[in-house]
Amino acid sequence: MEDRWSALVTEAIEQQFGVSDLAVVWERPAESENGDRATPVAFQVASRAKKNPAEVANVVASTLEGDADIEKVEIAGPGYVNVWLTVDALLRSLNATRTACTAKVKEPGQRPVIVEYSQPNIAKPLGAHHLVTTLVGQALVNLYRHMGQEVIAWNYMGDWGTQFGKLSVSYDRYGEGKPIEELSVDELLDLYVRFHDEAKNDPSMEDEARAAFTKLEQDDKEMRAFWEVVVKTTKGELGHIYDRLHVSFDTDKSESFYEDKMDPIVEEGKQKNVFQDGDKGALMTFFEEDSNLPPYMILKGDGSTLYSTRDLANMRYRHDTHDPQEILIVTDVAQKLHFEQLAETCRLLGWDIEGFENTIVGRMRFADKSMSTRKGNILKLKEVLEEAVKRADEVIASHGDEIQTDDQKDLSEMMGVGAVAYGILSQNRQSNIVFDWAKFLGFDGNSAPYLQYTHARARSVLRKADVDDVSLVSTADLSDKERDLINALSRFDEVLQEVRREHLPHLLANYLFGLCQDFNGFYNSEPILKAEGDTKMLRLSLTELTADVLKTGAEILTIRVPDRM
Ligand code: ARG
Repeated sequence: MEDRWSALVTEAIEQQFGVSDLAVVWERPAESENGDRATPVAFQVASRAKKNPAEVANVVASTLEGDADIEKVEIAGPGYVNVWLTVDALLRSLNATRTACTAKVKEPGQRPVIVEYSQPNIAKPLGAHHLVTTLVGQALVNLYRHMGQEVIAWNYMGDWGTQFGKLSVSYDRYGEGKPIEELSVDELLDLYVRFHDEAKNDPSMEDEARAAFTKLEQDDKEMRAFWEVVVKTTKGELGHIYDRLHVSFDTDKSESFYEDKMDPIVEEGKQKNVFQDGDKGALMTFFEEDSNLPPYMILKGDGSTLYSTRDLANMRYRHDTHDPQEILIVTDVAQKLHFEQLAETCRLLGWDIEGFENTIVGRMRFADKSMSTRKGNILKLKEVLEEAVKRADEVIASHGDEIQTDDQKDLSEMMGVGAVAYGILSQNRQSNIVFDWAKFLGFDGNSAPYLQYTHARARSVLRKADVDDVSLVSTADLSDKERDLINALSRFDEVLQEVRREHLPHLLANYLFGLCQDFNGFYNSEPILKAEGDTKMLRLSLTELTADVLKTGAEILTIRVPDRM
């Protein structure tokens, strides 16, 4: 529709004003009072042809007037052209929305997209950024899948490194002889923290820890068994948390998986002269000057491998095994330099790693002091979720009659966990993220509870209407609130495409928030159940489509919505 209008306008402008190569932009006015679509093209032409914008706008308006999808055209202000669509055209614009509510069938034989996210470090405290990358990554995975794209959801955990040496030293000293199998994740964490406290006064502990890790690298039986138990315990607990967050992976091939895959790469790099000798026997990549990248260490002086070495092996493996069309690695902004160096090293090695992106998330900060001042800024996800559910319970209690549920436990889980996920995903991942309980659980703001409540409200209307099949039927006329809702609904597919292109889930969250507002505006001003005939049918079908879009969108964002509350 817009493309057709653009072609008409371009031709008319060229004839009348001799201006060519026009890019005609179609905007959506915030309120339907100002039309369904609008274009500022007259200003662009006026300045190029040295004409009055009003004169150009007149030409644009009369060109559009005869179009079959257009009900009326008006010129607003000094040269805006506002367009109202016919009822049929508006309803037709909802076809793509309807289709976008069901997942597309995956075409066979596609090259996959790899999305790597979450990546917690085992035997180390969980950082706040792990929660953010977990949610952003899962939202992108869900979106890709929804759009029929083959995806590999990948958790690349920090399950290798000196932290295991530290833990084992601390366990030997302070573990009080308790079998390692019996230690909980919290107890393991306490041992890890204890190591750092004690090592301040006894630096020899650091050497001991390094020696212990070397034993692990050399496949010492006892160390290996210790490592296995710690990994198992941690993964077990993480598994519960991932379930609650509706997060899941196709693979968790992690750092340890690459232990035996690094040698050939080190050889290749030496041979190609990409890895060169650095200080104290280390092996380094030195970059060209104009890249502005500092040298990248590939092997330490004692020959041991590093995070960087494992990531090189990881890139190679993914490329060789999966031939992915894109690799998104979602990480905290602190890793930006590492990935720039990694990508440049791959290029120097002559590896053609297609479609790689380090999808960066900002730092998370807590609005609530009691959370940020916790010892060592350690985030215990389990506790965060417990707190969220407790607070959701309070919200439900404080809304007494307004909220009705047969299963409060289920609802508070849905609301609490959803509030955390939505609270984070509704913020632009590229800026710093604020964790704010009040905002996350606010009942009438940009929050999960508001979205969930709006969804339940729409479903409740449909239940009361009790009709089997609703369909979008044309009515003679539409009110402004109906137009607002239709215009909001019709953008759904476009928003999904944009989120996919930009890898920005907050665009979807904010779209859903706007849709909730438009639906509630419609709900509060137009009778639905009391309407009659075609009007009732149309309003019911708009209500149903709203509920479907909210549910589909929420689930992409990992959030569940109740049918009643
Ligand atoms: N485990 C790392 C951390 O928590 C993040 C891993 C990022 N991914 C990678 N391929 N290096 O800091």
